Amino acid sequence: MSLRFPSSPDDYRECARRRLPRFLFDYLDGGAGTEVTLGANSRDLAAIRLRQRVLVDVENIDTGTQLAGESCSMPVALAPVGMAGIVARRGEAQAARVAESARVPFTLSTVGICSLEEVHAARSTPFWFQLYMIRDRAVVSALLERAWAVGCRTLVFTVDLPRVGMRHRDVRNGMDTAGTRASILRAAQVLARPGWIWNVAMRGKPLQIGCLAGQVPGARDLGSFKRWVDAQFDASVTWQDIAWLRARWQGRLMLKGILDIEDARQAVHVGADGIVVSNHGGRQLDGVRSTISVLPEIVQGVGKQLEVWMDGGIRSGTDVFKAIALGARGVMIGRTWAWALAGNGSKGLENCLASLQRELRLAMVLTGARTIADIDSSRLDTGPTNVSCGDAR
Ligand SMILES: Cc1cc2nc3c(=O)[nH]c(=O)nc-3n(C[C@H](O)[C@H](O)[C@H](O)COP(=O)(O)O)c2cc1C
Repeated sequence: MSLRFPSSPDDYRECARRRLPRFLFDYLDGGAGTEVTLGANSRDLAAIRLRQRVLVDVENIDTGTQLAGESCSMPVALAPVGMAGIVARRGEAQAARVAESARVPFTLSTVGICSLEEVHAARSTPFWFQLYMIRDRAVVSALLERAWAVGCRTLVFTVDLPRVGMRHRDVRNGMDTAGTRASILRAAQVLARPGWIWNVAMRGKPLQIGCLAGQVPGARDLGSFKRWVDAQFDASVTWQDIAWLRARWQGRLMLKGILDIEDARQAVHVGADGIVVSNHGGRQLDGVRSTISVLPEIVQGVGKQLEVWMDGGIRSGTDVFKAIALGARGVMIGRTWAWALAGNGSKGLENCLASLQRELRLAMVLTGARTIADIDSSRLDTGPTNVSCGDAR
């Protein structure tokens, strides 16, 4: 396939596959178990149909919206992607810059390669910070203070990773195995990608977890990184700990990784400002439902009390439209942005965000929705799925 002019996330995914050492592509691309949930996220979105309407005045379409108090060009935010700086040179800083020009929020992961301060220096407007609960609360407090100091006012607290999911691709690539054989396997995959060596490994240093430098083993060894996560992420966290967090964070608090209505109600109870309906992009518990299938019942249950966001499988502006129609306030994209950045750098991400917005606008044009507020479930076609053989004459 010629990829001179990549256009869709699938194209960027292919560009990323050609550029990255195999174990890094698999880290980015893969999911848990047999990847059933990963597949369901996209498949269930694809199965939703839109209601085309014509002869509506669609001369002026506005994809803009307010997200967490910020004026944005469309209801899309860049999800936290750990170690994005290992798939693209200083990946988080690059992505944060592009997101700023595109006027969409950027979320920095706790385990990003770039630190809070580096991302802050890359742009002039605030960004969001994602937190994982680490056992040592002094480390967490220090992270929150640093995030506040660089102007972050939205904290995305991820609640669906008490332990890392069972990701077979990572195991196959020797990530769970310390020792010479696994290192040789990965070294061979690295040597097959000299462009990545030059662009990222040599010119993208230091490859360490920016916000936790000194505490986490070097990010190039994904195996030791995973062992560090397993040892240091606090799996004993409960709803009670949210009070601790709330007391230390004066800004907006979103809980990411909610998939059950009971948990969504708890989120309201503990005073969260928003939730992200998420299954971590199918990377945690294989066999849970797709996020788009869970979204409507969660919106119905708690949508009036807090902002309900979703992520998982968003690959087009049409997908964004569908999620908004089913009640999401906004969507996050994960792999979609990381593939574009890994595959074609800043330009790739710029184009990818522009395409999302263009597709969203087109979906609005052809369903007759002029503003984001006009997008609701009446824009979806719930008619029969099979072609009817009835008498059409
Ligand atoms: C490579 C990779 C790393 C991720 N790292 C994080 C992370 O550090 N923190 C987090 O909350 N979610 C993380 N996620 C999950 C994303 O934030 C998001 O929930 C998911 O990617 C959405 O699904 P999608 O990739 O289909 O858009 C990661 C996802 C991927 C693909």
